[in-house]
Amino acid sequence: MASLDITGVDKRYGGVQALKGASLSVAEGEVHGLLGPNGSGKSTLNKVMAGAVRPDAATIRLDGQDLRIHGPQDAHHHRIESVYQQLSLIPHLTVAENLVLGTEAARAGWLTPKAQLVEVDAMLERLSPVLGGGIGPRTRVGSLNPGTKQLLEFAKVVLRRPRFLVLDEATASLHRDQVALLFAMVRELTAEGVGVVFVSHRMEEVLDLCDRATIIRNGLNVATVDVKDTDEQELVRLMVGDLARAAGRGERPAPSRDGQPVLSVRGLQAEGLADVSLDVHPGEIVGLGGLQGQGQSELLTGIFGASPAQAERIEVAGDPVEFRNPRSAIAAGLALVPGDRASEGLYSVRSIQENISTVTLGRRARAGLVIDARAEKEAATSQVDALRIKIGALADAVSTLSGGNAQKVVVAKWLLSEPRIVLLDDPTKGVDVGAKAEIYAIIRDLTAQGVGVILNSSDDVELAELADRVLVLYEGRIVQELEGTDVTHDNLVAAALRISDDDTKES
Ligand SMILES: Nc1ncnc2c1ncn2[C@@H]1O[C@H](COP(=O)(O)OP(=O)(O)O)[C@@H](O)[C@H]1O
Ligand SMILES: [Mg+2]
Repeated sequence: MASLDITGVDKRYGGVQALKGASLSVAEGEVHGLLGPNGSGKSTLNKVMAGAVRPDAATIRLDGQDLRIHGPQDAHHHRIESVYQQLSLIPHLTVAENLVLGTEAARAGWLTPKAQLVEVDAMLERLSPVLGGGIGPRTRVGSLNPGTKQLLEFAKVVLRRPRFLVLDEATASLHRDQVALLFAMVRELTAEGVGVVFVSHRMEEVLDLCDRATIIRNGLNVATVDVKDTDEQELVRLMVGDLARAAGRGERPAPSRDGQPVLSVRGLQAEGLADVSLDVHPGEIVGLGGLQGQGQSELLTGIFGASPAQAERIEVAGDPVEFRNPRSAIAAGLALVPGDRASEGLYSVRSIQENISTVTLGRRARAGLVIDARAEKEAATSQVDALRIKIGALADAVSTLSGGNAQKVVVAKWLLSEPRIVLLDDPTKGVDVGAKAEIYAIIRDLTAQGVGVILNSSDDVELAELADRVLVLYEGRIVQELEGTDVTHDNLVAAALRISDDDTKES
C-alpha cells in the first residue's frame, strides 16, 4: 500500500532542538494520530512535511520514492496539505476568497471563478448545520469566532484535494457537533484513500478516529501503537512517561488569600465561555490551563473589555466595575499582554519607543496633559534597561528585533501603565529560553509588588513553574482547580487529558 514516510528528522531552532531523529509513517486510507505533550515537536514535524520549515536533516519518501520538499509549493505539488495550528485565513478577505486561495483549481486556472464558487457553495452547504447562521461566501472572516475559522481552514485544505492531509490540533476550538462533522468528512476522505495525520490532545478523539498513533516526546519517537489495542491510560502514560517533573513554584512564598481579592469575577458569559467565576489576590499568579482553545484567551479579553462578554459582577479591589472597552479596564488598573504579538501586541513598523509609549500616551493625552517628548523617551529608556531589551536604538522599528526582545517590548509597554492586575495571554509562546527566563523574572517582580496576575499558558511546564493555582478549562468552563504543591507538570497534563465526559456533559 502506498504511504508517506518521513524519517530521521532533525530540526533545531536557535538553542532548541525541536526534533532529534523523529519519524512518522502514514498509509493511504489511514488516520494516524500524532501525540505528545506541548513542545514535543508535533507542529514542527507537520511543518517539515508541509515545506513550511526547512529541517536540518530528513528523509521523505512517497510510495518508496525519495521526495524533495524545499517549500510549500513542493508539498502542494505532491498533494500533501496541512491545517496549521496557527490559523492562516486572511481576515480582510471573504470566506469564498479564503477558501479558493491557493487551490489547485485556482493555481492552474482550470476552474473558472464561477465553477470555484459552486464548489465553495457546496462546501458551505455541507458545513452549514454547524457553522452558525449568517455565514455565506461573502462574509469577511476577520470577525468570525475561532471555531468557525478552524472549520473553514479545514474546508480550505479539503478543497485542495489532498492525497495526504495533516490536521494539527484542528479540533481544538471546535464544539462537539463540529468535531462530529469534521470526523465524518475525514472518514469520507480516508475511504477514498487519503492518508490523514491527526494531532489532538483529546484522547477520546484519537481513540475514536485513528487507526494507529505515534507518540513523540522531546523530539523523539516513543512508540507507534495500533489504536484498537490501546486505551487512554496507555496513551497518557506514553506521553507523560518519566518527563522530569517541573521544579514547582520555587521559593516564592504562597500569597495570602485571606484579604480582599484585587480582582473578582462572577458569572462571566461570552462566546465560548459559560459562567466563569474567579478571584485573584494581591501577589497571586492564577494560571489558566487545559488544552489550548478552551476559552482561556476569551476569558482574558472578556474581562478586559476587548471582546463582548457579560458578567454578573466584576470588582477591582472591592469596587464594582464594568468594562465596555479596554480603555475603561486600563483606567481601573488592568493590563493585558497579548500572546500574538504580530497581530495584537505591537505596531511592527513603528519605532520601539512609540510602541512602548502607546498605552500611557493615550491616557495622558486624554487627561489633557501635554506630552513631554523628553520624559517619554526617558521612561521608554528606563523600561528598556530594566527589562534588558536588546535594541539598536529606540527609534528603530520593532520589526528589527528578535522574537524574545519584541515580546519584552510588549511587556514593557504595559508595565509603564503601572497596573494592579496583569492578564498575560501565552506571553512566552515562541520566545527563546533566555527571554523566557527574563519574562518569568518580570512576572515574579510584579507579584512581589502586590500585582495580581492571571497567566494563560499553552506550556504546562511554565504553569508549573509560575502559578500558585491553576484553573483548568474545558469547553469554556472551569472543570478543575489545582493548588499549591498539586500544580505540577504531570498533574496539569493529566488534568487536561483525563477530562471525561462526566465532567463536561451539559447539565
Ligand atoms: N519558530 C520557532 N522558534 C523557536 N523555537 C521554536 C519555534 N517553533 C517551535 N519552537 C520550539 O520547538 C519545540 C517544539 O515545538 P512544536 O513543534 O511547536 O511542539 P508541539 O507542536 O508538539 O507543541 C518547542 O520547544 C518550541 O518552543
Ligand atoms: Mg503544536
